[in-house]
Parts: sequence; structure tokens; C-alpha cells
Amino acid sequence: MHEEKLKQYYDRKHNAEAGGGQDKVESQHSKGKLTARERINLLLDPNSFTEIDKFVTHRGDDPEVKKYYGDGLVTGYGTINGRRVFIYVYDFTVLGGSLGEMAGKKVSKVMSHALKVGCPIIGILDSGGARIQEGVSSLDGYGDIFHKNALASGVIPQITASIGPCAGGAVYSPSMTDFVIMVENIGQMFVTGPEVVKEVLSQEVTFEELGGARTHATKSGVAHFIAKDEVDCMDKIKTLISFLPQNNREEPMILTDNSDDINRADPNLINILPDNPYQSYDMKEIIKSIVDNGNFFEVHELFAENIVVGFARMGGRSVGIIANQPLFLAGALDIHSSNKAARFVRFCDSFNIPIVTLVDTPGYLPGTDQEHNGIIRHGSKLLYAYCEATVPKITCIIGKAYGGAYIAMGSKNLGTDLNIAWPTAEIAVLGPEAAITIIHRKSLKDSPDAATKKKNLAKEYRNKFANPYIAAERGTIDLVIDPMESRGTIINALNALANKRETRPWKKHGNINL
Ligand code: HXC
Repeated sequence: MHEEKLKQYYDRKHNAEAGGGQDKVESQHSKGKLTARERINLLLDPNSFTEIDKFVTHRGDDPEVKKYYGDGLVTGYGTINGRRVFIYVYDFTVLGGSLGEMAGKKVSKVMSHALKVGCPIIGILDSGGARIQEGVSSLDGYGDIFHKNALASGVIPQITASIGPCAGGAVYSPSMTDFVIMVENIGQMFVTGPEVVKEVLSQEVTFEELGGARTHATKSGVAHFIAKDEVDCMDKIKTLISFLPQNNREEPMILTDNSDDINRADPNLINILPDNPYQSYDMKEIIKSIVDNGNFFEVHELFAENIVVGFARMGGRSVGIIANQPLFLAGALDIHSSNKAARFVRFCDSFNIPIVTLVDTPGYLPGTDQEHNGIIRHGSKLLYAYCEATVPKITCIIGKAYGGAYIAMGSKNLGTDLNIAWPTAEIAVLGPEAAITIIHRKSLKDSPDAATKKKNLAKEYRNKFANPYIAAERGTIDLVIDPMESRGTIINALNALANKRETRPWKKHGNINL
């Protein structure tokens, strides 16, 4: 009697674990993709996974839509390097991973669990979007998921990976999560596919061009990371998780076995900065020199490259780094870089990760393209994000810090705790040439030797204004340091500010200029 019941159970379990069946599994493999369960094995610690809702089936009334246990999704919980996470993984072998009513309920349920216990939630997407045959019930399923995404935002880290097509509703949920990873040549995200684009707009576009990993990592900014394959994708998720706390009430873990001397001084640091202020250099060299063991985990590496954001450890503590990148647009701030940095600042603030800002920017990028597309609206997000953030904030000005961009990049009056400057810092309302043109417009116009005069005036201006000492005299720069002391100074500041508590007036929520 018991044996029969056990047999029934194992038959059902076996059925559930077979997904869409052998031929669909082979088809999945032939597209260079792993199955949902193979993906889970790659992501989670061995034997740590518990599956829930394994026997859920759809309740649709279309007899042509076969019922599969699991309904195209594998959900549950497990651990990554010993840390608890909840996951939902779409199974493309079942009805193309499309989401119907019950699949929607499964995702919502596992998200609710993660929220209640305060653990990261990870979604792996490979889905044809709303299940067409289930109509409005599918759409409602997405509605529930979006609602949970918004509830979880800023409470638990939310990470999604796109490892296959993600169409229609399957793209909005990832974009409401904190980080999106796309696997190159496999992950695709689009609201409407190439066929609809052709039908409606008569435009020919491939899947890759429209919504491939590179498109979203370089152009739209939807993807924060590109992975070269599925193994790399799971490794990136594990690395990302290592910098984050479990939820917004916890601090990120401090690594106590940090092998990098906290006072390590790098006398070569200043030489990375060229003598000629018009020459560019790679800000990432400076970042790597000051963080623990040179390990910098860059976010949005290929999007808005004029600003660099990412995670590192300093003295074992997890930090979020935001830095201008003089290699692109001379490090000027534009629409995309403002959005990128503002979102990163807000993420760090939500999850108690201190913010370290490195500044070398000539200002906001001028021009009709930027103005007409809303640099005022987008640029102000960065100001808002820094002002709103209550985590420890440390800013170090390395080179140029002009005008609005000086203010936006974590200046003192936005509530930054410690503002440091190298002796090479240039802090002023405008760069020398622009300033001279404005304040000496008349005399330059009348001068027979305007070019030489302009050059001399610019030199004079640079000596007078473009240094850190006026700001240091006003107390908006707290410390001027020898660049080689940067690492030790920032780590000391992080330690000193570790117990920082700052409150804000009560509000329902702010109204950031979206
Ligand atoms: C039901 C679906 C499906 C869907 C795919 N399938 N998408 N079933 N609803 N949305 C089924 C297919 O019929 C097929 O079933 C199996 O999944 C595999 O699909 P294929 O097309 O054979 O695979 P492939 O060639 O790899 O193409 C994958 C794909 C394509 C690019 C995702 O299937 C596709 O374009 N699907 C439709 C995408 C879409 O428009 N979704 C609706 C979006 S609207 P069989 O039985 O043959 O194996 C939406 C609204 C929500 O999501 C908006 C919320 C804001």
C-alpha cells in the first residue's frame, strides 16, 4: 500500500523533473542553452536546493495546451557560498517558458518568501512572455510579479539573468530588478520581436541587433553585465552577491582575512595623472590601485563609459565606487552617465554600502543633443541621489571639478561626510578657457593679440582658482593629501564613519525627477 503511494510520488517527481520531455531538452541543448535544472546546479551550492510548487499545473481551459508539472518554472531556495537565496528559473522546454496564471503565482510566491525572510531573489529568464492561450490571466500574473518587484525594491537585492529569449512581459520584471546579466549570443530582451517590428515599421532587424546582450549592455543600458557563457553568468551572480547584504537591515559582510595592507601607499599613483590637464588617462588604474588587492567588480562596464561604477572592498569593507572616466568624453557628465551613476548611488544607499566618489570632470556635456534630450532632467537625478543617500559618503577630487559637475559628484554641500582632494585638484565654476572667454570677453575682442592674451589669462586663472586650497580654506574640502595616502585615508574614513546614522524628514517617498 505504502509502496504504491511512494511509486506514484516518484513517478510524478520524475515527470516534473523531465520538464518538456527529452526532445525539448535536446532542442534546448542544440540552441546552446542549459535546462532550468542544469542552471540551478551551476548556481547553487551542491545539494542546497529545495524545490517548491513542483506539482503545480496550469488551469487553462484550452485542451491543446498540455499540462506539465511545474508549469514551465522551477522555483525554490538554496544557498550560494552558504548564503540563503530564493530563485525562480523559467523552463523553456515547457511551452517556451511562457507565463500563465499559475506560473505567475509561483514567481510571486517565491518572491514573497524572499521578502518575508529578507534574502536576495534571483530570477533566470528564458521565456516567450505571456502565455497567449491563458489571455488575461497571464497578464495578471505579470501584474502580480511587477507589484512584488516594486515591494521588494530597496528591501532585498533582486538579480535577473537573461539566458534565452525574454519577450513581452518577461522584460519588464528584470528591468525592475537591481541588476540584469545577459549571456552573450543567447540572452535576448525585447518588448516586441523583429517580426512585429517589420510588420509595424517595415524595419528589418535581427534578434541580436534588436535586443541582444551587446545591444542592451552598450546602447539601452538594460544589461548591467554581459557574461560570455552560462558558467560565467553564474560566477558573476555569485561575485555580485558577495558584495551585498542579505537585505536592507543588514550590513554587507566585512572580510577579516584581508591580505592587503590598509596603509599600503602607492607612490606611483600621482604619475597616472598626466602633467598636461588636457591629456586623458584611465581612471580604473587609480581605482585598482586603492582598493583591496586591485579587485574591482565593474557594473555597466560598456554603458556610459564616461563614468565608472562598481563594487570593491577597502579594508575588507564593501564599497560602491563612482568615478569619472577621462578616457571617454573627457569624463564629462551627460544624460546616460547621470542615470547610470544616480541608480548606482541609490542602490548602494538602499543596501548600506558606503559610497566612494573619485572626481575628474570638466563639467556637464554641452550641446543641443543633450539639452533637447533632457540633461537638466536627467542630470538632476544625480544631485538628488547623492543628497538622498545617508550611507557614509567619501569624495576624493583628483583633477578637474568644474561647475555643476563638481557639485553633482558628491560635493560637501550634498551631505558628503569627508571630502578629500589631491594637490592636483582644480575646483572652480568653469574651466580656465571658458571662464576667460566670459569674464574678459570685451578686452579679448579688442586685443590685437587675443590668442596670447587668452593663454596668459588662462594660466593666471588656473593658478588663482584651479586648485584645492580655496575650497580647503572654506572647509568644503576637509583634507588635502599626498595621492599616495589615498587608500589609507579612505579606509580610515570608512572605519570612522562605520556607525554613521542620519535621519531624514518623514515622507511617503521622494519624487526623484524621473
Ligand atoms: C504560448 C509560446 C509562447 C507564448 C513561445 N511559445 N512563446 N506559447 N505563449 N507567449 C511556445 C511555442 O509555441 C513553442 O511551442 C515553444 O514555446 C517554443 O517556441 P519556439 O517559437 O519554437 O522557439 P524559438 O524559435 O526559440 O522562439 C522563441 C521566441 C518565440 C522568440 C520566444 O517563441 C516567440 O516569438 N514567442 C512569442 C513572443 C511573444 O510575442 N510573447 C507575447 C508577448 S506579449 P511548441 O509546442 O511548438 O514547442 C506579453 C504581454 C505582457 O508578454 C506585457 C506585460 C507588460
